[in-house]
Amino acid sequence: MSEWNAVLYDNKHDFVAEYGKGLLEFVPKNKNQSILDLGCGTGTLTSQLANFADTVIGVDSSANMIEKAQKQYADIKFMVCDALSLPFEKQFDVVFSNAVFHWIADHNALLNQVHKVLKSNGLLACEFGANGNIATIENAFMNVCRNFGYEYNPKFNFPTSEHFADLLKKNGFMIDKIYDYDRPTPLKDNERGLANWIKQFFASDLELMSEKVQDEIIKKVEDLTKESLWNGSKWTADYRRLRVIAHI
Ligand code: BEZ
Repeated sequence: MSEWNAVLYDNKHDFVAEYGKGLLEFVPKNKNQSILDLGCGTGTLTSQLANFADTVIGVDSSANMIEKAQKQYADIKFMVCDALSLPFEKQFDVVFSNAVFHWIADHNALLNQVHKVLKSNGLLACEFGANGNIATIENAFMNVCRNFGYEYNPKFNFPTSEHFADLLKKNGFMIDKIYDYDRPTPLKDNERGLANWIKQFFASDLELMSEKVQDEIIKKVEDLTKESLWNGSKWTADYRRLRVIAHI
């Protein structure tokens, strides 16, 4: 993935952290605990986790995001880290992760890492894209790219709850809750909402094309998805979430 645009992310897609607040309810409120925020982005939820933990560390693979997080929350420790090679061992009571796991192709390796960094009885609270997440947008984008001579290879990992539950068990987790649900997500900025979203999240695909082609592709995707995602005043993305609470 190319580097994240941390400004576009915070200005237009702050709903990512906003919705993540629901997941905070599943984190025990115990000042003596240590929490890892895995894929912390610009640190919005990390700063909330800091209200109920002694130690919170936010990690993200994007240097842009970590730089912005560190500027905003100077008292919290943030690190650039690859989720598949975390430099910790049996160190955290809780691993928290919002809207990140779908970026990681190998969920088996990921859960192995999460298990490694948790203390015994440690908790995983995570939420990310479930099977069928953004299917309308992604299918339209793939078809339009193909018509323009570009091959879009789906890059997200949106598992079913059954598949993810199997991986959790295989990696030594006991499942407290696992369920998926539709979470239609209104996009900011009126008629520009879907274009902003595509520019942020398909940035690495778009950067292979001229600006003219990018604009044409975005316009065609809008045409194709209008009927289901546009209500005359705003775009709503067809998000589906998988929520998991599990412990070791
Ligand atoms: C999501 O949060 O579901 C998501 C965000 C960006 C791209 C794909 C999925």
